Amino acid sequence: MADMMWAGRFSKQVDETVNAFNSSIAFDGRMYRHDIQGSIAHATMLGDCGIITKEDSLEIIGGLKEILADIDSGKLELDPNAEDIHMFVEAELTKRLGDVGKRLHTSRSRNDQVAVDLRLYLRDEISEISDMVITLIKTIIGIAKEHTETVMPGYTHLQRAQPITFAHHLMAYVWMLLRDLDRLGDVNKRMNYCPLGCGALAGTTYKTNRQQTAELLGFTAPMENSLDGVSDRDYCVELNCALSLLMTHLSRFSEEIILWCSWEFKFVELDDAFATGSSIMPQKKNPDVTELIRGKTGRVNGDLVTLLTMMKGLPLAYNKDMQEDKEAIFDAIDNVKLCVKTFTPMLATMRVIKENMRNAAARGFINATDCADYLVKKGMPFRDAYKITGTLVAECISKGLTLETLPLDDYRKMTELFSDDVYEAISLDTCVRERKSYGGPSPEAVAVQIANAEKELDALISAKGQA
Ligand code: ARG
Repeated sequence: MADMMWAGRFSKQVDETVNAFNSSIAFDGRMYRHDIQGSIAHATMLGDCGIITKEDSLEIIGGLKEILADIDSGKLELDPNAEDIHMFVEAELTKRLGDVGKRLHTSRSRNDQVAVDLRLYLRDEISEISDMVITLIKTIIGIAKEHTETVMPGYTHLQRAQPITFAHHLMAYVWMLLRDLDRLGDVNKRMNYCPLGCGALAGTTYKTNRQQTAELLGFTAPMENSLDGVSDRDYCVELNCALSLLMTHLSRFSEEIILWCSWEFKFVELDDAFATGSSIMPQKKNPDVTELIRGKTGRVNGDLVTLLTMMKGLPLAYNKDMQEDKEAIFDAIDNVKLCVKTFTPMLATMRVIKENMRNAAARGFINATDCADYLVKKGMPFRDAYKITGTLVAECISKGLTLETLPLDDYRKMTELFSDDVYEAISLDTCVRERKSYGGPSPEAVAVQIANAEKELDALISAKGQA
């Protein structure tokens, strides 16, 4: 095994098992671009501040760019035995440039280096995930627009409760996802400060220019405290929180789709390309995608607990425990991306079976509140109207009828306030059409919220563009 870069004070080579145990290149290798980007900014600053010569700075930058191109093209493979991506790039630079390469790490530590790499890396991932969520939101709004008149039962306790429309139901998820998008932007806003130049923990005696590196790397400003800069991983936790919530929303949506494509509901039919079969039961068409999303939500939540638990007892500043941050947050990111990438086209190709939604809404007394409200509008106090309607529902159940088919005589036995217009008042279409309250399911109210959601989406897209 080659000498470690820090071999100076050691009299033995590091044990093979320790080396393998310690090494993070298997998972931090994915940050090579960001590592090189950070090093280029650092080398530029070192040259501009006269800490190294301009010539050395330019040579280092040239060497780093070549390494980047070579890794990108596959010409240079990451060495699985390297301690981490930072050591690998620096060692490769020195291999190529000799002594000049050894000047890159002046006034820097791997502690600020890894912190800057991770922030740069996560910034790109947040942007990518946000774009995927934007596409998902647009997809859902597109479907909602086609279903502002599609009546379905709304549920509480998974019992039919009151009539809504499919558009109304879908838009509930749109608002959740808009908040997820907003949260991702917030995480980015707080994360986008530069730890480069914090050194190992206590800054440096060189006359560095941290403002310059922060600016070169597109950060809002340098971090104010060098200990904080290398110690905290709150941005990983915050991002994982935002991802856990996003997954929670996708998981609830998935659970509903699983129910909806069961024979018991049959509100939707998944496209064959987004469903799977059984190895034994020839009739089966399984919603594996949605089940996996539901399952992976647990995994992403697990990553969050890993991060929180890993951080809770650490003294300042850097501790090796923190190397564990990457596998957790990368796992959360990878799985969220997989889920959104699969969920969006699955939704876009899903067939909505309007008749079944409507039939389900037509049974189960979901107009009972409207029947009570009918009496209230004729002057009866709500509690009395509620009781009478409850009695009528019980009567319908015992006679095998619904409120729509119960004869007027039976209604009038309860109170003379009932007349012929009760049937119109409790018809499914009236029940939906009249729910015009702000945020409610009437086609008119849903049209307003679709327009508002589109405005909100545009605002979040332009905020993202400016970030
Ligand atoms: N691979 C390390 C990590 O991910 C880089 C920082 C190492 N710093 C140190 N003082 N050993 O955390």
